[in-house]
Formats: sequence, C-alpha cells, structure tokens
Amino acid sequence: MSVHIANDAHFAKTVLMPGDPLRAKFIADNFLVDAKEVTNIRGIHGYTGKTKEGKEISVMASGMGCPSIGIYSYELFSFYGVENIIRIGTAGSFQKNVRVGDVVIGLSASSNSGYGEQLMVKDVKMSPCCDFSLALKAYENAKNMNLKVHVGPIYSSDCFYNVDDSINEKMRNIGMLAVEMEAYALYINAWLLHKKALCICTISDSLSGSNEVELTSEERQTKLNDMFKLALSLAD
Ligand code: HPA
Repeated sequence: MSVHIANDAHFAKTVLMPGDPLRAKFIADNFLVDAKEVTNIRGIHGYTGKTKEGKEISVMASGMGCPSIGIYSYELFSFYGVENIIRIGTAGSFQKNVRVGDVVIGLSASSNSGYGEQLMVKDVKMSPCCDFSLALKAYENAKNMNLKVHVGPIYSSDCFYNVDDSINEKMRNIGMLAVEMEAYALYINAWLLHKKALCICTISDSLSGSNEVELTSEERQTKLNDMFKLALSLAD
C-alpha cells in the first residue's frame, strides 16, 4: 500500500487537508465527534471521526508545497478509497478587494511547479481545476454562513520567499486572486485519478499593495474556524 500513511488506516470518503499537522489535530479535537488518530508517520497526523451531523469525515495534514501534498493526496485517492479531498489553507491576496480574513475558493490553479509535467500531454499546457460540484456547494454554504467569499483562479507557488516580487503586480493585473502552495498538485492528482478536489483558503496576508491591518490572533482563529466549518459542511 503506502509508505507514508499507516497501512491499516481507515479514511472517510471525504478528507480535509490543512498543511499543518497541528491544525489537523486542532480540527479533530474541536470539530469532530469520536475522532480517532488513524495515522501518524513523519508527524503527519490523520484522524477519522464524524461531523456533528453524524457524517463520517477525515482530516489529515498535507505538509507544505506541491511535492508533499502530491504524495499524500495520491496515496489517499489511490490506496484508501478517498473520493473527495478539500484542502483548507491560508493564502496571500493579490487583489485589493480580497481582504485579510476573506475566503477564497480556487477554481483553477496555475503554478511554477514542475509537478504536472510527468502527467501531462506533450505540447499541451494543461489547466488543472477544482471539482465544480464541490465548488458550487462550498460557495452556496459560504453565502449561507455570511462569509465574505471570492471564487476564481489561484496561484500555487513553489517559492514562499520570492527574490523578485514583480510577479505580484503581474498577477494582480491579470486578476489572479491569491497565492498558496498546494492546490496545483492536488487538482492534478484528482484529475489523473478521476476523483474530486477543492482548495479553500483564508487570506492571511496581502500582496496587493494595500495597507491592511493584520488580524489579531483571536480574529485569525475565528476566521480559520469559519473556514473549517465551511469545509466540514461539504461532508457527503
Ligand atoms: N505565499 C505563498 N503561500 C502563502 C502565502 C504567500 O504569501 N500566504 C499564505 N500562504
């Protein structure tokens, strides 16, 4: 089976994937009922339990970047019967109207990552995208929860620290909503393996040139909790 996830681990059809292992534990401890740890290899914690409405759901960390989420999402989809992976992370905003604390649903993921090349059709520049049914449900649920939500293209960067930040202005000009580091590999795997994926992000910082006041740690946690509840509402 898998060298990165415990072989006897049981996962629900839907897995939420934060980047941070401690965030996975936080969600299991605070939002799931009867959560059991099902894997913990290399500190990548995974849990399976139920939502408060009684639907089975799992949460497992992805680590950071395309190679890391590429490995874990491939194994979950291929070897553990997982059908839906919802990445839940933070992102930097390129747009002035996409403000710190807002939710972004990534329709498509562009990237400077080489992750897709091995899987792609020669001479064709493929454009990985999310699953429409998951995006629609997430958008409707976000609206019902009164969250400030944006839906559009996102950028999965291999570099958190960019020497040349002129890319921010270019991305702003073409209407790219935000930057994170994992959606591209997740969407490619879902595509390749005929599964469903979605990336939902809370904006943690602004690269739009606007002077935004940073969220207090309490405000930040409240915003993240809203995103966790939104992701949990997508359980089948
Ligand atoms: N860059 C890349 N990933 C991120 C950022 C960023 O500025 N903020 C949150 N995730």
